[in-house]
Amino acid sequence: MKLKADLLVHNIGQLILPKASQKPLKGQEMKQLKVMKEAAIAVSEGMLVWIGHQSEIKSIDAAEYYDAEGKTVSPGLVDPHTHLVFGGSREDELALKQAGVSYLDILSKGGGILSTVHATRKASEEELAEKAAFHLERMISYGVTALEAKSGYGLERETELKQLAAVKKLSETYPVRLISTFLGPHAIPPSFKEHSDEFLEEMTGLLEEIKRENLAQFADIFCETGVFTIEQSKRFLTAAREIGLGLKIHADEIDPLGGLELAVSLGAESADHLVAASDEGIAALAESGTVAVLLPGTTFYLGKEQYAKAREMIDAGAAVALATDFNPGSCVTENLQMIMSLAALKLKMSAEEIWNAVTVNAAHAIGLGSRAGVLEISRQADFVIWDIPNYQYLPYHFGVNHANSVFIKGIKRWERVPYGTFSLPEAGKAGRF
Ligand code: NIG
Ligand code: FE
Repeated sequence: MKLKADLLVHNIGQLILPKASQKPLKGQEMKQLKVMKEAAIAVSEGMLVWIGHQSEIKSIDAAEYYDAEGKTVSPGLVDPHTHLVFGGSREDELALKQAGVSYLDILSKGGGILSTVHATRKASEEELAEKAAFHLERMISYGVTALEAKSGYGLERETELKQLAAVKKLSETYPVRLISTFLGPHAIPPSFKEHSDEFLEEMTGLLEEIKRENLAQFADIFCETGVFTIEQSKRFLTAAREIGLGLKIHADEIDPLGGLELAVSLGAESADHLVAASDEGIAALAESGTVAVLLPGTTFYLGKEQYAKAREMIDAGAAVALATDFNPGSCVTENLQMIMSLAALKLKMSAEEIWNAVTVNAAHAIGLGSRAGVLEISRQADFVIWDIPNYQYLPYHFGVNHANSVFIKGIKRWERVPYGTFSLPEAGKAGRF
């Protein structure tokens, strides 16, 4: 009896198979990556029903056959930290940065996050969703099939809820898995300048409604000098946990305040940034179930010398994931593949660690450990066919899109324009350019 399937993708040169695991992969486990050569996968009703070798495809009776032509296939990428929904843009800040004005200085003068808050308050929910859809489609084209999106450009009830509603609309419209995070305490609005506790209380007061209306699965706070203190972060995150939300924190991005230690002590699903994390924090992280979500694109974009200590973290036994941190100020890119290259070049992560960090561990960081990030029978068939000869190639060739086609629930949702769009110069005229 042959196994019936809707689709058989065959002739896969390398099939990347991160380990399905109840928990994020930690330390040495991150170095393991199963790669099946000359492989094939079969899909039925949007789910994976078979994974095997090319030599065994006769056992499958598929309605449609798709020749991968020896290309590499991986699970859909997972981007576990993005600020997808916002109004406006901040290209004017680039010149300030070039003149040496720091990120926190721009913020303290009412620019930065606060400038995006201004634009986001002015935009309607529809406008925000439409703009975010443009960025989301670009992410899908880069191979992302699951991601997280934060609020945090409202800093008031109405606009925070508007951002979360826009994420909800996108999650109903697009086939991707979209996890929503409430980041109300992302900056202190000027009207609360000397009263950050009052502002924090107002944001904490929104948690119950957000949970009740199922507008977010996680809560997050920007714990940083001049923004929110450790004590304030602890208060907010403790309240969020009591209400039943998962926890995330923008921790130790610029100054080593101890946000990582706090995240671990609260059992947060992830602690993000961690460029300035302390050795004690890293040791605690290694003993915990918290995932370190590292954002080397942000360090690159802010022009910093010091990157997060990924090597120390992994070697100590921690779980590391990678994300874009896509936002209009500190990392303006939807390209998670570029982040994979930065992880190789700047964080000194191996290709195996990098693939685990953008698939299985990224999924765990946003509570999708049992649903996204791996290719396994009975899981949703979200996968990418890559124009690369092997899995090591992707981080090596940086800054471009290597995706050939992106499948979600077994349906091709994006493919690149075929070659031949620009024809070679006619014979005899070669060299005229
Ligand atoms: O993760 N660090 C704080 N928040 C964002 C940046 C947001 C912005 O600049 O608009 C981050 O880097
Ligand atoms: Fe961020």
